[in-house]
Amino acid sequence: TTVYVPRDSSALSLGAERVAAAIRGEAAKRNISVDLVRNGSRGLYWLEPLVEVVTDRGRIAYGPVRVGDVPSLFEADFLQGGSHPLCLGPTDDLWYLKNQERLTFARVGITDPVSLDDYLAHDGYRGLRRALEMAPSAIVDEVTTSGLRGRGGAAFPTGIKWRTVLNAVSDTKYIVCNADEGDSGTFSDRMIMEGDPFVLIEGMTIAGLAVGATQGYIYLRVEYPHAHRALNEAIGAAYRAGYLGKDILGSGKSFDLEVRLGAGAYVCGEETSLLESLEGKRGLVRFKPPLPAVEGLFGRPTVINNVISLASVPIILDKGGEYYRDFGMGRSRGTLPIQLAGNIKYPGLIEKAFGVTLREVLYDYGGGSATGRPIRAVQVGGPLGAYLPESQFDTPLDYEAFSAIWAVLGHGGIVAFDDTVDMARMARYGMEFCAIESCGKCTPCRIGSTRGVEVIDKIIRGVDREKNIALLRDLSDTMLNGSLCALGGMTPYPVLSALNHFPEDFGISAAERA
Ligand code: NAI
Ligand code: SF4
Repeated sequence: TTVYVPRDSSALSLGAERVAAAIRGEAAKRNISVDLVRNGSRGLYWLEPLVEVVTDRGRIAYGPVRVGDVPSLFEADFLQGGSHPLCLGPTDDLWYLKNQERLTFARVGITDPVSLDDYLAHDGYRGLRRALEMAPSAIVDEVTTSGLRGRGGAAFPTGIKWRTVLNAVSDTKYIVCNADEGDSGTFSDRMIMEGDPFVLIEGMTIAGLAVGATQGYIYLRVEYPHAHRALNEAIGAAYRAGYLGKDILGSGKSFDLEVRLGAGAYVCGEETSLLESLEGKRGLVRFKPPLPAVEGLFGRPTVINNVISLASVPIILDKGGEYYRDFGMGRSRGTLPIQLAGNIKYPGLIEKAFGVTLREVLYDYGGGSATGRPIRAVQVGGPLGAYLPESQFDTPLDYEAFSAIWAVLGHGGIVAFDDTVDMARMARYGMEFCAIESCGKCTPCRIGSTRGVEVIDKIIRGVDREKNIALLRDLSDTMLNGSLCALGGMTPYPVLSALNHFPEDFGISAAERA
C-alpha cells in the first residue's frame, strides 16, 4: 500500500516526521509492508499532517494526524481506506481543493517532489520538449500570448521582459529566479519548491532557451532549508537524466542551474539588491535604469523572475498561451496562488483564476476568523500592502481592481485580523519594519521610517494629534514619491490605509472625521 505523508515544512512543523516514523514503526510491528512517499502539501494547512492512502476508491485522506492516532488508524484498517474519526474521504472531493483551478500547482501534494519519474508520469517536461522544437522568439510569443504577469508582485508582463533580454546583444545572459520569498503571510514559492521543484527547473530551462541564456541561478532565502534540499535533489536528478547540462535531451542546447543562498535580508528580494548579493556584495539597491533585462547579473542581460512566474511557464508551453489566457479577468490572466493566513479558520493555498473576490476567499474558503470574531481588516500583498476594511471585501482579486482602491495584490498573500486588532499599532509596525529592513541607500526610507515610528508613537499617545497626523501624511508622501525602491516607496500603503480606514484607532473621533 502506498501512503503519503508530506515533507512540506508546515506539515513538518506540525509533526509530519514523527507521524511518518510512527506509521513505519506500526507497520513493521504488524508485519505490513507500506510504501511511504513524502509528498508536498495539498495546501489545506489546518488538516496537516494530512496522511493519504492509495485505495481502489482513489486517494483517501486522514487528518490532522498526530502520532498518538497512528495505532487506532491501523486498527481501523486505514490502509484500505477504513473509516476513522480522522477520515476525510477521497482527497479530490475535499471542497477546498475541488473548487480551485490548479494550473501551476497541478502536481503539488500529488507527486513525490524529487522523483523525476513521477514528474514525467504527471505531464512533466512536456513544455520543455515543445520548447526545444521552437525558435526562441516563438517561445517568447507563447508567453506573451498567455498574458502572464510577474507574480512576485509588480505584475510586469513576463513576455515583454523576456523579449527585452532576447533582443539584448551579449555572449552571456542569465536566468535568475527570485526565491527570496520575504513577504509576511506568503508561502506559495516555498510550497512549489518543496512540493514540485521540477516545475521551477523546467520553467527556468525554457526561459534559458527563450532568451539565449545558458546559466541559471535560484536565489533562495536561507530560511528555507527544506526547499533547498528538495531543489538540490531535483536538480541532481535532472542532470543525471539529461534535462539539464550541456546537451539537453540530445538537442545540442545547454542550460546549467544552481542554487545560491541569501543571508536573510528582506531587501534582497528587491531585484537589484538580489543581483548585488548574488555577485557576492552587500545587498544594496541599484539605480534603475539600466534595467536588469539590459544590464543585470555581472552586467549582463538577465531575466529575473519570481518562482511562481517561472513555474507557470511549463503549462503555458505545454497547453499553449491561449489555454492559460482563458482563465482570469481583465488584464489579469491565468491563475493566482492565493495564500491565506493570519486569524483564519482554514488557512492554506488556494489557486484560483483572477476574479474571485476577497470575501469569497475569506469566508467560502477561509471559513471566517479562527477566533470566531468578525474579520475587521485584511492585509493583502505582504507587510508593504494596504489594509482593507470590510467595506472593500467585495473587490475581485485583479491587479487593476486593487490599484483602483489604492491597494496591491502583490504576491497574493492575505493576512486576516479580527476586531481585537489595534490598527494604529499595525501602522506603527509597518514603519518599524521598514526601519529595520531599510538598506540605507536613500534618505526618505532610511530616515523617514525611523521618524515615522516616532510620529506614530506621538499620535498613539495623543500628543499634538492633528499636527502629527498632518506630519505623518507629509512624510508618507515623501517616502512614496522619493524612495529609490518599493521598500520605502510602499511603506505608506499599510500606514495610510490603516489611518484612512480605521481613524478611530488613531484617536480621531467621529465628530472630527465628519
Ligand atoms: P517594477 O515595477 O519596478 O519592476 C517590475 C519588473 O519589471 C522588474 O523586474 C523590472 O526590471 C521589469 N521591467 C520594468 N520595465 C521593464 C521593461 N521596459 N523591460 C523589461 N523589464 C522591465 O517593480 P519592482 O520594484 O521590481 O517590484 C515591486 C513589487 O515587488 C511590489 O509591487 C511588491 O508587491 C513586490 N514585492 C514582493 C515581495 C515578495 O516577497 N514576493 C516582497 C516585497 C515586494
Ligand atoms: Fe534602500 Fe529603502 Fe531606499 Fe529601497 S527605499 S533603496 S531599501 S533605503
